[in-house]
Amino acid sequence: MKADAHIHLLPGMDSGPVYDGVAAEMLLRLYEARVRIFVATPHFFSDRESVAEFLCRRRLALARLRAASGKHYRNVHLLPSAEVMLMSGISTLEGLPSLAIPGTNLLPVVFPIGDALPAPLMREVAHLIHHRGLCPLFCHVERYLPFFGDDFDGFLAMNHAAFLISPHALTSASFAASVAKAVRHGARVFLGSNGHDLSLRPPSVEVEGDYVGAAAYAYRTVRRATDDFFTSLVRRGIR
Ligand SMILES: [Fe+2]
Repeated sequence: MKADAHIHLLPGMDSGPVYDGVAAEMLLRLYEARVRIFVATPHFFSDRESVAEFLCRRRLALARLRAASGKHYRNVHLLPSAEVMLMSGISTLEGLPSLAIPGTNLLPVVFPIGDALPAPLMREVAHLIHHRGLCPLFCHVERYLPFFGDDFDGFLAMNHAAFLISPHALTSASFAASVAKAVRHGARVFLGSNGHDLSLRPPSVEVEGDYVGAAAYAYRTVRRATDDFFTSLVRRGIR
């Protein structure tokens, strides 16, 4: 089954769709592109709310999406998770594992956008891995090219981590080459549309034929890894 491993689909949760109808239309658009598994990743900021408050809001948003989507909702698998902003103290936060993708230790995380990556955040990441047993799943890693520069390939080679890329990012030849190299060396890389709405940041509906060279190899490999991994999860009854 085709999976979108990173989408802001839950109405009213974050910078994604405000209205239930828009969320339902996003789901329908991807359904028509044969996507059947959605990992819902609303933003979570630990300085704004507790994990318990977030989970309560997420439950309500899921119910709204279910009501708005009707029969299409019954034909898809929706795995609720989060996109956790990395900040000071995040790695010791109570309840954090409950934001991981169900049935896994994959915790989608994102670095704040800035000029440089603060070193203390990498210590938070190390703590997540070594003391919480979590596997950071770095969201839309194409954003981090400026942070890591020449060491971007080293970032993609990080042990005990996994990576989400947006399909459109593979149109950059240098990024596609880095991803191709990483997957050849065994990196866990998944595809996520990072869709937020239907206008400014719609979910991308990628086409395999759009990619050539290293991008074609990277796309094929990562698309298969994404679909196989999430299909095996839902076949185990994970939800
Ligand atoms: Fe995102």
